[in-house]
Amino acid sequence: MHHSQNRATLGGKLSAVLVAAGSSVGLGNIWRFPYVAGDNGGGAFLVIYILCVLLLGLPVMVAEFTIGRASQRNAVGAYRALNPRWSFLGYNGVLAAFLILGFYFVVSGWTAEYMIHSVTGSLAHFTTPEEYSSIFENFISNPWRPVLYTGLFVLVTHFVIALGVQKGIERSAKLLMPLLFAILITLAIHAMTMPGSIEGLRFFFKPDFSKVTASTILVALGQAFFSLSIGIGTMVTYASYFKPDTNLRHTALNVTILDTLVAVLAGVVIFPAVFSAGIEPSSGPSLVFITLPGIFNTMPLSMVWSSVFFLLLVVAALTSTISLHEVITAYLHEEWRLSRRAAAWTTTAATMVLGTVASLSLGVLGGWKICGLSIFDSLDYITANILLPLGGFFTCIFVGWRLDQQILKAQITNNGALKFRIYRLYIFLLRYVCPIILLLIFLDNLGIF
Ligand code: PHE
Repeated sequence: MHHSQNRATLGGKLSAVLVAAGSSVGLGNIWRFPYVAGDNGGGAFLVIYILCVLLLGLPVMVAEFTIGRASQRNAVGAYRALNPRWSFLGYNGVLAAFLILGFYFVVSGWTAEYMIHSVTGSLAHFTTPEEYSSIFENFISNPWRPVLYTGLFVLVTHFVIALGVQKGIERSAKLLMPLLFAILITLAIHAMTMPGSIEGLRFFFKPDFSKVTASTILVALGQAFFSLSIGIGTMVTYASYFKPDTNLRHTALNVTILDTLVAVLAGVVIFPAVFSAGIEPSSGPSLVFITLPGIFNTMPLSMVWSSVFFLLLVVAALTSTISLHEVITAYLHEEWRLSRRAAAWTTTAATMVLGTVASLSLGVLGGWKICGLSIFDSLDYITANILLPLGGFFTCIFVGWRLDQQILKAQITNNGALKFRIYRLYIFLLRYVCPIILLLIFLDNLGIF
């Protein structure tokens, strides 16, 4: 296989795990997971979610790692090098990364704004839930403030990407991921000491299967793919920087464990707080921006807890936006032969425009609709419900059926240096179990059932 001499590689084993975990751990874990779990029966959802991660997420992540490291190229170049007819999968990834960034940067901008308002104390002036709700609505529909914060977030991401793979991506992950864990553990310990916390933990952990329907499983799988950053070329791109002796299976296992741990810890932080304030747990996407600031406000040292919580969200979001930006930058750099600088600026400019439109679509551009959805919501819908499951489905088909099995074996065993006892099980999952379930999800998301 083609091996470019001057391509950057990541330092050691830990770097591969931290960088990939940086991509996986994001708003999906802390902002989305708790409310999706709350809406879908708490503990029962958690069990199904973990099964999805292990049975479907893990095999697909190993498949994407294989494609990336075997080809050592960006998402499009990787498929083109292995089998040109499959380069559409790489394009699907680059497009999905661009569209996800369109709304992800906006929500990241909100977290930055909320962090700053927590630090300055201006978030602590309100008392009733209605007040918190109206400041959130006013803020996101404001014509310039969220756009400004979105732009700020894009520029910080750009700055990291411009520093390159080792100095930017790797160094930031090594710094930010330990910080993220330290904050999260502190918050979780604090949450568990609150009055009424036991009730919240019971709700989160006690499986209540009476609330589970077929669609719960599909929701869990969609959440798992988004949260693990798979089905879109991110892990292909990152694995293209892995070293030849990186153990792909262990890396994928560690990343999925860390990602799940963060989602669970986010639930441990959020549900006790929600229950101790006597609020219904399923309060939708606004849980983090409306319910929680109101709850923080009733705590001693409220400014500290709320600042730390929003810092956690900023850090989690940043390592994910970096990975999405890199998918596009690496593509433009290697396929269009732009310098890395020019590639990064092109990505930054394009996502800034899309992010601005997405942000304004929640306010002044509210009249612009695609199939009845605002631009912001349609970006979320198209990626999570169409491009990601499609990407995951075709990745399984490609690696399970089309890719030369010698390449797959060589990558997974590091050319025979590692044993792989469950190879047959792995192939079975990739060939049959994963694609069939993914197809079902896809059809369900389109409303076919
Ligand atoms: N996994 C990230 C999160 O949980 C989002 C993401 C999706 C990042 C796809 C990269 C690719 O927030």
